[in-house]
Amino acid sequence: MDLSRRAFVKSSAVAAAMMAAGGSLAAMAGCSNGGSTDAGGDSAATGNIEVKSAVCRYCGCGCGVLVSVADGKVIQVAGDPDCQSNLGLNCIKGYYLGSLLYGENRLTKPMIRDDAGTKGTGEGLREAEWDEVLDLVASKLKETWKNDKSRLAFWGSGQQPITEGYLQSKFWKAGLLSNNIDPNARMCMASAVVGFMNVFGTDEPAGCYSDIDNADVFITWGANMAEAHPMLFSRVSARKLADENVKHIDITTLKTRTSTDAEHVLLFRPGTDLAITNCIMNYLIKNDTYDKQFVADHLQFKMGTENIGYPYEDGYDKSDIGSKVDETTPCTFEEFAARLEDYTLEYTSNLSGVSQEDLQMLIDVFSDPELRVMSLWTMGVNQHHRGTWMNHNLHNLHLISGKYGKPGCTAFSLTGQPSACGTAREVGTFCHRLPADLVVKNPVHRRYTEAVWDLPEGYLDAIETPGFHTIKMFREMSKGNIDFLWSAHNNWAQSLPNLTRFLGMDGEHEGIFDTFIVVNEVYPTITCDYADVVLPAALWVEREGQFGNAERRTSVFQKCVEPMGEAKWDVWIMMQIAQRVLEGEKIGDADAFDHLFGFIWDKEAGDFIGDDRETNRAIWEEYRIFSNPEMKDTVAAINTENNMHMEAKQLAPYDEYIEQHGLTWPVREVDGKWLPTKWRFTYGDQAEGYDQIGIEMYGQQGLANDMSFYKTPDQKPSVVFRPYEPPAEEPDADFPFWFCTGRLLEHWHTGSMTRNVAELDRALPEALLNMNPADMEKLGLKDRDRVRVTSRHGSFEITVSNAGRTEPPEGLVFAPFFARETLINLAVHDYYCPLSKETDYKKTCVQIEKA
Ligand code: SF4
Ligand code: MOS
Repeated sequence: MDLSRRAFVKSSAVAAAMMAAGGSLAAMAGCSNGGSTDAGGDSAATGNIEVKSAVCRYCGCGCGVLVSVADGKVIQVAGDPDCQSNLGLNCIKGYYLGSLLYGENRLTKPMIRDDAGTKGTGEGLREAEWDEVLDLVASKLKETWKNDKSRLAFWGSGQQPITEGYLQSKFWKAGLLSNNIDPNARMCMASAVVGFMNVFGTDEPAGCYSDIDNADVFITWGANMAEAHPMLFSRVSARKLADENVKHIDITTLKTRTSTDAEHVLLFRPGTDLAITNCIMNYLIKNDTYDKQFVADHLQFKMGTENIGYPYEDGYDKSDIGSKVDETTPCTFEEFAARLEDYTLEYTSNLSGVSQEDLQMLIDVFSDPELRVMSLWTMGVNQHHRGTWMNHNLHNLHLISGKYGKPGCTAFSLTGQPSACGTAREVGTFCHRLPADLVVKNPVHRRYTEAVWDLPEGYLDAIETPGFHTIKMFREMSKGNIDFLWSAHNNWAQSLPNLTRFLGMDGEHEGIFDTFIVVNEVYPTITCDYADVVLPAALWVEREGQFGNAERRTSVFQKCVEPMGEAKWDVWIMMQIAQRVLEGEKIGDADAFDHLFGFIWDKEAGDFIGDDRETNRAIWEEYRIFSNPEMKDTVAAINTENNMHMEAKQLAPYDEYIEQHGLTWPVREVDGKWLPTKWRFTYGDQAEGYDQIGIEMYGQQGLANDMSFYKTPDQKPSVVFRPYEPPAEEPDADFPFWFCTGRLLEHWHTGSMTRNVAELDRALPEALLNMNPADMEKLGLKDRDRVRVTSRHGSFEITVSNAGRTEPPEGLVFAPFFARETLINLAVHDYYCPLSKETDYKKTCVQIEKA
C-alpha cells in the first residue's frame, strides 16, 4: 500500500491533536511514548512499520527521536525515551519532523543560472542535469584554485553532520590547501569556544544535562530557553515541579517566555552583564564568602588586554593589524580582587538598571555554600561586543564561588545548532582549526594531522596562516575579492548581519554579483536567489549522519528513506566535485584524490564503495584516530613525544553510538564496555559518569578535591579579569532604540525548513516587532501598524505589536529573524567581539517610524 500524501497529512493531524491535548510534561512524555502506536493508525494495515533511531534536525538540545517508516515514507516521529539527553521529550518542532521532508517546495533538481544579471531577483534559475552542474562547479572551483587560492571560500554550518564536516575540512585543508573555510557557528558559539579554550584549555562544557536534575538555582543569562531550548526548559520546569525550593533567576534585557516561569526577572541594560558579574565577584571577595579552598587548590589569576576596539570597518580589527587582543599576564588573587573594587552595588545598579536588592540576592546565592547553582547562557552572552569576556566572567564567577564540578553546580553554555559542538567545534571547520581542538598555526598540530591523514611531513605548512573568518570572508566578497563561494546547511543571505552591505544594497559593495556562488539546499531560500548553481541536497534522515549536542553527546541519525527526487547526499556532491577538481593532482607519488578519499569512494564507478552506514563508519574511524592516537603508531608517537594528551577526548567505535543512543565524550573503554563521561574534570566512577582522565595522567596525588583540570598548565584554569566596556553603539537622539534579534519556538533560524512545515507555519505565520506600549504611544503607533526600522547600516519594514511573544522594556525592541519578508538583518550591524570574531546581533541602535 502506498501511503499517499493525504494519509501522511492525516497522520500528522493526529500528531497535532496529540500535541494540542498535551502541554504538561507528563502528557508530552506520554505522547512521545504513544507515538509509534498511533502511527499504526494509518499504516498498520501494511503490517510493515520500521522504527529507527535518529536525532532532531533542529536545535542544540539534540533530542533523540524514533522515526517510524512505512512504504518508504516517514509516517511518525516520536521522542526517544532511550536517549539520555531528552528522555523521550521533544518540542513542537520535533513532533512535526516528519512533515519536514515532504513540503511542497522541496528542491529535487539541480539548477543553474545562465545570466548573472538575474541574481537577487528570485528568477533566472533553470533546471539542469547533475553532470552539467558538477562539471560547471568543478571547473569554476579549479579555475579559482589554480588562479588564486585566497579567492575561494566555503561557508559551512553547525548543522552539518560530523562526518560531512570532517570530510569537508579534509577536502579544503588537505586537498585544496586552503583555510578559507568557516562555519555559521562563528556567529553562534565562537565566543563560548574562545572562552572555554582560554579558561580550561579545551572546548565545551564540563557539565551535562543531568546537572539540571540536581540544581537548586537556575540562572539564565540573556537566554530565552523556553523558546530556543524548549526541551531543556521542560527539564528545568520538571526540576522545579519536583522541589518547590528550586528557584529560577532570569537575567535578561527583555521579558520573554522564559521570564514567565522565573521567580525573579532582573532586567539589565544591554552590555552591563559584564559589570553585574564583576559586582557579584567583588562582594564574594569583600565579604569573604568566596570558596577559598577551591581558589587555593585550583585557580590561577590573570589580567587581560583591555583596549581591544570594536571591529567594524576593515583594518580596525586590532587582531588583524598585529596587536594581541588575547594577550594575558599572570597576576595575584589580590591584584585580581583589587580590579573588581570599582564594581560597587551603587555603581553597578546605576549602570545596569538592576536594583541593589536584586544584586544582593545574586551575591547571596553565590555566597551560600549549600546551594547548587547552574548558569545557562547562549546567544545573549555569545553574540556580544565582548562575548569572549562575558564567557570568561561566567566561568570566573562559578570558579571563585566553587560552584563547579558537583552535579547541579556548573556554568553551562547552551548551543544553538544540532552539531555546533560535534561538527564545527570538534571536527574543526573553522578557518584556524584542525580536527579535535588542533589549530593550523601550531606546527606540532600540523605534524599530528599529517600523520593521521598520511601526508608528507611539512605538507600542511602551506596552511599555517588562518584563513578568513566569516565576517572577513563576506566583507571580502562584498568588495569583489572572492571569486568562488560554496555554502551548505545555511542561508547566509538571510542570516548574516549587515545584509545591506553583504547583498550589495548600499550601492558601494556589489562584489557579491561577481562571485560564482554554489549553494547546497533543500528548500528555496534568499541565498538561492543569489546562487549561480543550486544543488539539491538530501534532507535529514534521507541519509545517515551524526550530530554532537550541547552536552557533548554524539548521536547517529540513521538513514530512514531515500532522498526526494534527484536530491543527493552532500558527501556524494562533495566527492563528485573533489574528484573532478583534484584530477591529475599528486600528493607525493600518489594520486591526490585517492590518497585522501579513496577509502570511501571509487573514482571509476563515480560512487561510494559502501552504503551510507559503511561510508559513515569509515569516515568516523579515521576521524576517531585524532582523539584515540593509539589507533595509529605515527600518531601515537607524536602524541607521546609532545605530551599532547589527545586521549582526553576519546571517541567510541561508530556502532556504539547507534546501540547506545548516543554517548557523551570522553568515552572510555572499561572492561570491554564503552562508557560515557557526564562530568568532565570531576574524578569518580566512570560507570556513574565521572572523569578518569586526570587520575590516569597525574595519579591520585595530583587530584585536589577530586577535581583535575587536566588540559590546563599546572591543572589550573585561568581566571582573567574582564572589565565592563560599553557597547559599540548606544542609543542617542537619532537612533533611540536598542534592537535585539533572536529565535522563537516554532521556527528554526531563517525558517527555510520550518516555514515549509505547514503546522509550524500556521502556528507562527509572521514576524512581528515587539515594542513597549509606552513607546508605541509616544510614537503614535497602534498594534499592527507597519513601521520602518532604520539603523546606521540599513532598514526594513515590519508590523509592530505590543502583544507578541516578548515584552521589551521602554527603549528596546525585538524581532525574530525567521521571516524572509521582514529581512531584519538589513539593519543589524556587523561589529564583532575582537577575540572570537562573533558578531553582536543583540545591540544595534535604530529609529522607528510609521511606514
Ligand atoms: Fe528537541 Fe530542539 Fe528538536 Fe525541539 S528543536 S525537538 S528541543 S532538538
Ligand atoms: Mo552554535 S550554533 O550552537 O554554532
